[in-house]
Amino acid sequence: MKKDYSQYFRRPSTKAARKRTTEDVQTIDFDSHLNIKHLGQGKHYLIQTYGCQGNEADTETIKGLLHQLDFKETTDERQADLILLNTCAIRENAENRVFGELGRLKQYKKSNPDLLIGVAGCMPQEESVVDRLLMKYPYVDLIFGTHNIYKIPEYLETAMLAKERVIEVFSDEGSIIENLPKKREFSHKAWVNIMYGCDEFCTYCVVPYTRGKERSRDPKQVIEEVKKLVLDGYQEVTLLGQNVNSYGRDFIDKDYTFSHLLNDLAKTTIKRIRFTTSHPKDFDDATIAAIAEHKNIMPHIHLPVQSGSNKVLKKMNRKYTKEAYLTLVDKIVKAIPHVSLTTDIIVGFPEEDDEAFEETLDLVNQAHFEGAFTFIFSPRAGTPAAAYHDTTSNVVKKARLQRLNTVINQGYLKGNKRFENQVVEVLVDGESKNKANILAGYTEHNKLVNFEGDCSLIGKIVRVKVTEAKTWFLLGERHE
Ligand code: SAH
Ligand code: SF4
Ligand code: F3S
Repeated sequence: MKKDYSQYFRRPSTKAARKRTTEDVQTIDFDSHLNIKHLGQGKHYLIQTYGCQGNEADTETIKGLLHQLDFKETTDERQADLILLNTCAIRENAENRVFGELGRLKQYKKSNPDLLIGVAGCMPQEESVVDRLLMKYPYVDLIFGTHNIYKIPEYLETAMLAKERVIEVFSDEGSIIENLPKKREFSHKAWVNIMYGCDEFCTYCVVPYTRGKERSRDPKQVIEEVKKLVLDGYQEVTLLGQNVNSYGRDFIDKDYTFSHLLNDLAKTTIKRIRFTTSHPKDFDDATIAAIAEHKNIMPHIHLPVQSGSNKVLKKMNRKYTKEAYLTLVDKIVKAIPHVSLTTDIIVGFPEEDDEAFEETLDLVNQAHFEGAFTFIFSPRAGTPAAAYHDTTSNVVKKARLQRLNTVINQGYLKGNKRFENQVVEVLVDGESKNKANILAGYTEHNKLVNFEGDCSLIGKIVRVKVTEAKTWFLLGERHE
């Protein structure tokens, strides 16, 4: 019988998660030698990852730690001794999917009583989620958040050997852990965290609470990581942060910003540099100049606008206006002529009336986006917007989303059409999911391309002539 709570019992606190201090950020080196254990010998794990690239990068760290403990990966739920869900809290439907999965996974506990089920990532950072897990999902053995991934070896030891449940979520962490092991998904493209957390507090968003205060990694560590990736044969890196344009804002000993980092990374011989996500209010001229100057910084910018209405933008705490956003787009387009711009938009935010929504459509038409993630506002517990008075019906919100998506999809097609009959460079990711001999990869502008080719091309950058543009992808043929 499992003891109900182990030495590890710490619930999240929204109050602590909201607090920001001026304390210096500590960088801690992870010492893997201290953690050499063979807990996973003969055992298999399975991880499901939800949410953003930050979570995908975290999953690679979790896998790295599990492999160090001698676990092996499986995709077969019946074979798994450990099933971990790395979760996302950004919208209610993301959370519902996870609760649904937990319900479904319960059956495997019957056939394998030693199976451990764990919930990690952003959802455990929320008080209400942990309460619900404790009340309704007693068979969940491990609950930990985004700040304590490095403690997995200890948690597993407790759960497996002492047969105790582990619930430990930190809400007030502000440190950076370096040198954690990683098992990367690809051997040709890699995520590289340049910062953690977020201090923007957009009023709808849960991330500043689930990821903690904004902490930039030391540029030396980032540059070293990219140099090492080059030596290991990597072609592409994607720099990750919730607002990459504020990189370095927290350094107290140096004046080193995102544009400095881009310029320094461009000098490594990595073939492709991407970054996400950008915040319009912090996108400075030096960054535009860096992208324009270096051929290995890709001409695709994901620039979430969220809304085209100044009234709504203010309520969202985005700190820019529609006009300022369009001026920025104009500057970017002038400096980087063939740039591809994509965005995120929320419809149905409290106080978004018809007129405000029309402003969003107008902005979309003016900005010529070539893609967008569009969402209906989802109130998140503990965020200011959850308490805003919302009078728009769901029917109207859905109709707005549909109208918006029609315009966005035209943008996707238009963005793809401009490459018809052109030769593009494609970094080949792998075989297309549906057809044999068909390869799939991304162009410099981040367009998906399918073309016929041999598997030996996977991981390479090849030239492809685009024969036809569809809404969601390009068709092409190999061009020598
Ligand atoms: N840091 C990034 C991305 C954050 S989350 C940024 O600032 O843009 C990704 C997207 O999810 C956001 O851009 C926003 O469009 C959407 N989103 C965040 N919170 C949401 C909520 N409560 N309801 C609906 N969409 C939301
Ligand atoms: Fe959320 Fe805003 Fe931070 Fe993006 S910048 S993660 S939307 S609070
Ligand atoms: Fe989701 Fe957390 Fe990313 S809430 S979007 S996984 S930072």
